[in-house]
Amino acid sequence: MIKKIAILTSGGDSQGMNCAVRAIVKSAKIYGIEPYLVYEGYKGLVEDLIVPASEVKVDEYINRGGTFIYSARYIEFKQEETRLKAKKVLESHGIEALVVIGGDGSYHGAQLLHKIGIKTIALPGTIDNDISSTDYTIGFDTALTAIVDNVDRIRDTARSHHRCMIVEVMGRYAGDLSLHSGIATGAELIITSENKISLEEIIKVVDHQMNVIKKTSMIIIIAEHLYDNLDEMAKEIEVKTKVATRASILAHLQRGGIPTANERVLSTRMGIKAVELLLENKSGLAIGIKENLITSLPILEALSQERPKLIDEIIKITKVNQQ
Ligand code: F6P
Repeated sequence: MIKKIAILTSGGDSQGMNCAVRAIVKSAKIYGIEPYLVYEGYKGLVEDLIVPASEVKVDEYINRGGTFIYSARYIEFKQEETRLKAKKVLESHGIEALVVIGGDGSYHGAQLLHKIGIKTIALPGTIDNDISSTDYTIGFDTALTAIVDNVDRIRDTARSHHRCMIVEVMGRYAGDLSLHSGIATGAELIITSENKISLEEIIKVVDHQMNVIKKTSMIIIIAEHLYDNLDEMAKEIEVKTKVATRASILAHLQRGGIPTANERVLSTRMGIKAVELLLENKSGLAIGIKENLITSLPILEALSQERPKLIDEIIKITKVNQQ
């Protein structure tokens, strides 16, 4: 049976990572496995920033955003010699298995370590919800809640001034945060990479919503990376429609904050599952949630699954919100 496992968080932090680490540490202890924490993701693995989890009171972090074991984006891990170094470091501690919490880049790292003989399990930790093998990633629900809270505030002031507000949300290249926040806030326009439209088309929609059907305010949710300059876009809309328009980029405030109850439940369930799989001597697996069941499948399969298309949902919701 496995005696020692390590845990790391990697890539962009996400709310709920701490709960997952806590669950892994606590369930490992139940089964007599000694848990270790790796600080600063894969970088810390290579640099041997590893401490026994017994030195940390993990319960303190169940309701804290961010990741208390820190995270890093570490492209050097793509090099084989760097990964071999990491393997040596783990072996020097007698650690046989590693649980990685992160996005798809982190999954690749876990798969490569699995190939060189380290037992690995990957948990989906990213606000973007862009891992196809799971319905929800750790961080998505809390980031979504933060976006909705902020867009509600923006809606208040938009209504008071009969304004159109453009809000850019994160998601890397996935539109889930945009679509879900657009549904939850009644955004009149939701634009993702799947339905990107021209400025002229946006202007037509604003004109119709504000000048023809006389809405008191309008929210446009735009996924990041789609348009160069949203302030310029706002100015252009204002000139052409005479509707006062402003732009807000929510940026990293989406990534911080207290994890929601659902986030804590999800990450705890996934953390426990990681330890159960290692006890069964499994490796190279990615954990997910499908139809409310915690699932696992080979990391390679998880990475190759296609993302569900959002376009039909976007069209349906937009029709409702534009009434
Ligand atoms: O992957 C999480 C994420 O927040 C994306 O939504 C965003 O594109 C990116 O990370 C931002 O990365 P950084 O914090 O390194 O600027």
